[in-house]
Amino acid sequence: MTGTGGEVLVSAEGVFKHFPIRQGIVFKKEIARVHAVDGVDLTVRRGETLGVVGESGCGKSTLARCLAALHPVTGGRIVFEGTDITRLSRAGLKAFRRDVQMIFQDPYGSLNPRRRVGSIIGDPFAIHGLADGAERKSRVQELMELVGLNPEHYNRFPAEFSGGQRQRIGIARALALKPKLVICDEPVSALDVSIQAQVINLLKDLQEELGLTYVFIAHDLSVVRYVSDRVAVMYLGRVVEDAAGAELYGGPRHPYAAALLSAASIADPDEAERAERIVLTGDVPSPIDPPSGCRFHPRCPKAQDRCVTDDPALTVRGGDPADHLTACHFPVEPGEHLAGRAAGISQVSTEPELPEATP
Ligand SMILES: Nc1ncnc2c1ncn2[C@@H]1O[C@H](COP(=O)(O)OP(=O)(O)O)[C@@H](O)[C@H]1O
Ligand code: SF4
Ligand SMILES: [Mg+2]
Repeated sequence: MTGTGGEVLVSAEGVFKHFPIRQGIVFKKEIARVHAVDGVDLTVRRGETLGVVGESGCGKSTLARCLAALHPVTGGRIVFEGTDITRLSRAGLKAFRRDVQMIFQDPYGSLNPRRRVGSIIGDPFAIHGLADGAERKSRVQELMELVGLNPEHYNRFPAEFSGGQRQRIGIARALALKPKLVICDEPVSALDVSIQAQVINLLKDLQEELGLTYVFIAHDLSVVRYVSDRVAVMYLGRVVEDAAGAELYGGPRHPYAAALLSAASIADPDEAERAERIVLTGDVPSPIDPPSGCRFHPRCPKAQDRCVTDDPALTVRGGDPADHLTACHFPVEPGEHLAGRAAGISQVSTEPELPEATP
């Protein structure tokens, strides 16, 4: 972590990613759209870690893939080092792909079981024609050492490694070309708790050593706590709160962020006993037809009539510093308790039955 305030490396400006749902065999008429990312503004500064947190299905992976130019966007811009990467030529995209790498949740799923790890880690050199033969082998072995793998295991297969080691293989491959931005999409969610800290510490050490910038995605606020300079909380395709880590953990303003934080695992059992948990009732509504007004209103303990009709902007709320943004008409006040409160709106909308999404 190197603090905030540096130069902007990448920003998302009003980014939308909708997936059409089609029906019919011949004409494949669009009948609905999944609003996976629905107007996201974000900024990541060089050398910092932006944590992105939200329940499953709120659009984190889709946003990550848009940032890495793995998905074309439906609307908006993604500006990387001053260039809008949503409009790059093929050659421009190839250069961009060297600078931005992803680390995925399931390292095993992204490693071909029939290939030796040395050749997997060396892929980026092969794809970009950068090093071959003995030079490639020695660069790969350096990378293995960097991520804490035994370089002598160059000829082993992925199955011969543990889950944590396989994630190290994924990290080595992502770092091969010295990327400027690394997007970690739930990199520890599939690992045992005892291994999670090791991988997080490795990522932190590598950041310091190599001056990396991270977007670190998790569904749990406690996972990103120790790595993030800033945290963006997502709900149904939108950022609902964006603040420096200390600000957000010290006093979340969005009721959804407060609920996520109260649900985050608390290491100290005494503290856990005292902590009031805000229970999030119901599932995340369908992103095919997001609720009117504030999307969180059907589940919000602070919801009032205005929330049903009036979509709150992501902006600075009374008393907050200029870089603490919240999309809520009635932000949580210091010392306010939400636990056990029922929604205060006159009616809670119910979600209609919707067809299955297809890619
Ligand atoms: N290729 C796709 N086609 C259709 N819907 C998709 C596709 N990818 C993701 N979605 C939908 O977009 C929403 C957001 O998904 P995702 O970005 O994976 O969320 P998260 O990573 O936060 O769990 C979900 O409703 C998901 O089903
Ligand atoms: S705008 Fe209303 S419904 Fe939305 S989070 Fe704030 S209080 Fe809750
Ligand atoms: Mg995901």
